Amino acid sequence: MKKRVLSGMRATGRLHLGHYFGALKNWVVLQDECDCYYMSSDWHALTTDYADTSKIDENTLEMVADWITVGIDPQKAVIFKQSMVTQHSELFLILSMISPLGWLERCPTYKDQIKEIKNKDLNNYGFLGYPVLMAADILLYKADTVPVGEDQLSHLEFTREITRRFNNFYGDVLIEPKEQLTKSARVPGLDGRKMSKSYGNSIFLGEEDDVLKEKVRNMFTDPLKIRKDDPGHPDGCVAFAFHEIFNKEYKKREEECKNGSMSCVACKKQLTEMLSEFMKPLTEKRKAVISDKTYLRNVINTGNQKAKETAQKTMLEIRQALKF
Ligand code: TRP
Repeated sequence: MKKRVLSGMRATGRLHLGHYFGALKNWVVLQDECDCYYMSSDWHALTTDYADTSKIDENTLEMVADWITVGIDPQKAVIFKQSMVTQHSELFLILSMISPLGWLERCPTYKDQIKEIKNKDLNNYGFLGYPVLMAADILLYKADTVPVGEDQLSHLEFTREITRRFNNFYGDVLIEPKEQLTKSARVPGLDGRKMSKSYGNSIFLGEEDDVLKEKVRNMFTDPLKIRKDDPGHPDGCVAFAFHEIFNKEYKKREEECKNGSMSCVACKKQLTEMLSEFMKPLTEKRKAVISDKTYLRNVINTGNQKAKETAQKTMLEIRQALKF
């Protein structure tokens, strides 16, 4: 039996290298080995973007275009949109009945975001229930494997706990999923913080060459390396972190930096070339994919149908288990 995989991303628009190395690269591999469902999570986007929903649909198209650009194949994986498979909301409602408030209030992502996001009022029932919706997403497909980044681990733990609670009350219907952490490198943002759209420190998939060059030029480097032959400190240098990903000979670069035989300007020049080479085919493919909205909508509609079939089967079992 093939493994069943479900993963999703909040529909917040274009994706960057952090998404690629942190998740998508792995998604592409999994589609050949497993039965994969990849979801644009537009209801999760609603938990924070509820006041302005005008971009959410467009964001799904932009994101799915990125998925296809990097090699997610609609013939292999089911690509769908959460809000079009309404069974997610039905299971969300049922799970919400058995979700202890304490589990949700203690969730680290919830506490962090309430503290950090100040420009939006997140004191809402739906936002507290974010992990419940995510559990419904996973359990509806009886996914055993969920490829996610570290930041989602507490949600996976919640999903497993709620699965046990559900199965305890109503019988063994739901499957406890396991996370699959992406081993690949962490890509820092241009300023050294985590790469994140909201920090304005991202390199987007399909970035145009001139923008890419400018971004590399502005990348944070070792502030102690002032003259070109000063010895540098690759640890904490963003340009070096990128070399670790894109340059096979990054060990040599580490030495050259430390012993002062290479300037930051030369180091960045080489990085720009490597990044351009990586990006060029993506930029071309992305343009073609995003320009064909009919194709994109067809891919999503077909995926919605397939996802719905699976979700309906699980909901039938759940209704029986609850004696409805
Ligand atoms: N919460 C995830 C994130 O922010 C997105 C997501 C929604 C998800 N539903 C999911 C991921 C189900 C994995 C499985 O990245």
